[in-house]
Amino acid sequence: MPRMTRALTILGIETSCDETAAAVLRYEEGRVTLLADIIRTQLEEHAPYRGVVPEIAARAHAELADLTVAAAMQAAGISYDALDGVAATAGPGLIGGVLVGLMTGKAVAQAAGVPFIPVNHLEGHALSPRLSADCPFPYLLLLVSGGHCQFLEVRGLGDYRRLGSTIDDAVGEAFDKVAKLMGLGFPGGPAVERLAAAGNPKAYDFPRPLLNRPGLEMSFAGLKSAVARVAASAQTEGQKADICASFQAAICDVLAEKSRRALAAFDTGADDKRFVVAGGVAANKAIRAALERAAEENGARLIAPPLRHCTDNAAMIALAGAERLAAGLVGGADGLDAGSRPRWPLDEASALSTPIYGGGHKGAKA
Ligand code: KG4
Ligand code: ZN
Repeated sequence: MPRMTRALTILGIETSCDETAAAVLRYEEGRVTLLADIIRTQLEEHAPYRGVVPEIAARAHAELADLTVAAAMQAAGISYDALDGVAATAGPGLIGGVLVGLMTGKAVAQAAGVPFIPVNHLEGHALSPRLSADCPFPYLLLLVSGGHCQFLEVRGLGDYRRLGSTIDDAVGEAFDKVAKLMGLGFPGGPAVERLAAAGNPKAYDFPRPLLNRPGLEMSFAGLKSAVARVAASAQTEGQKADICASFQAAICDVLAEKSRRALAAFDTGADDKRFVVAGGVAANKAIRAALERAAEENGARLIAPPLRHCTDNAAMIALAGAERLAAGLVGGADGLDAGSRPRWPLDEASALSTPIYGGGHKGAKA
C-alpha cells in the first residue's frame, strides 16, 4: 500500500487489560487532533479481587466495547463514513479482552469499508509522546508498565531495538504487589505514590538490585521481598508511609542510574537527545523527577506524555494505527486476517518466536 499524505481520521480501540477505551483522531503529516478519547476503567469490577481477573475483564470488554466505540464516534461528531481506518490492540495482553477489541475493530472496519490496522499495545505506548509533543525519531524509550520494564531505542515506526529489560517483575507489578502487601487496594501504583508523599524515603534501606553490575538489566523481585519482610509488622499509617516512600526511592534510584547508562549508550550524534518515559508507571511524579535529573545530566530532554496517556488509552492505539496507515504498513487483506498475539515483544528479533492465534500470518509458531 502506498504512503498516504492526506489527512486521516482513525478510530482506535484498546481492550488488552482492564480499560475499555476508544478514541478518534485526525492525523496529517505528523500533526494530531484528538476528536474523542474515552476510557472506561473496570476498577470497580476487579477491586474485590485486588487484581485484574482475566475472565471478568473479558466479559466487561464484551459488554462495553461497542458502546464505547459508539460513544467515541458520537463525541467526535462524525459518521462511520468519515473514517479512513480502524486500529485495535492485537496484543500483547489478556487474550479474552484482546479478542473482543480485535473483533470489534475488524467489524467496524469491514462495515465502514476501510482498512483495519492491528496494533502492538507496546508500540502504542512507545508512540504516545507523539500525541501531544514534538518528538521526532529517534529517541530513547523507557517503557514502564504493569507488564513491562525495558529500554528501547525507537529508531522509526516499527523499528525498535531493545537495550535492556527487567529479568523478573515489571516496575508496575512491583508497585501493585507492595500495595497488596500493605492492603492499599488496586491498582497499587497511585496508592503507593499517595502514601509515599507523607513518608520518609530514608526510613528503610531497601536494596537497589543490579546497580553494582554493568549493563541495563533490571530486577525488582528482591526489592519486593525486602518490602514484604517489613510490611508484615507495619502497624501505623506513618510506618506504611515510610515503607512506600523508601520503596519508591529505591525504584527511582534504580531507574535513574540505568537511564544514565542507557542515555550514555544512546549516541545519536545529534546534540538534541530525546528521552521518553511511557507506560502506566510514567504517571509517577517522583519517578518523572528522577528521570528528569538523569536526562539533564546527560544533555537530553525528558518527554513524558500527560498522565491520561501514560496509563492505557485508545488515543495511542489510534495514533499507531494512523502512523502505520500513513506509511502503508497495514498487512494482508486490508488487515482483516490479523491474528491476536498474547505475547508480542516490540523488537522483531524477539517477536518472530512468539505465537499468533488465528489470522493469516503463515510461518508463525502456533
Ligand atoms: O500501562 P498500564 O496502564 O497498563 C499496562 O499496560 O500494564 O500500566 C499499569 C501499571 C500498574 O501496574 C499501575 O500500578 C502502574 O502502572 N501505575 C503506577 C502509577 N499509576 C499507574 N505506578 C506508579 N505510580 C503511579 N502513579
Ligand atoms: Zn499498557
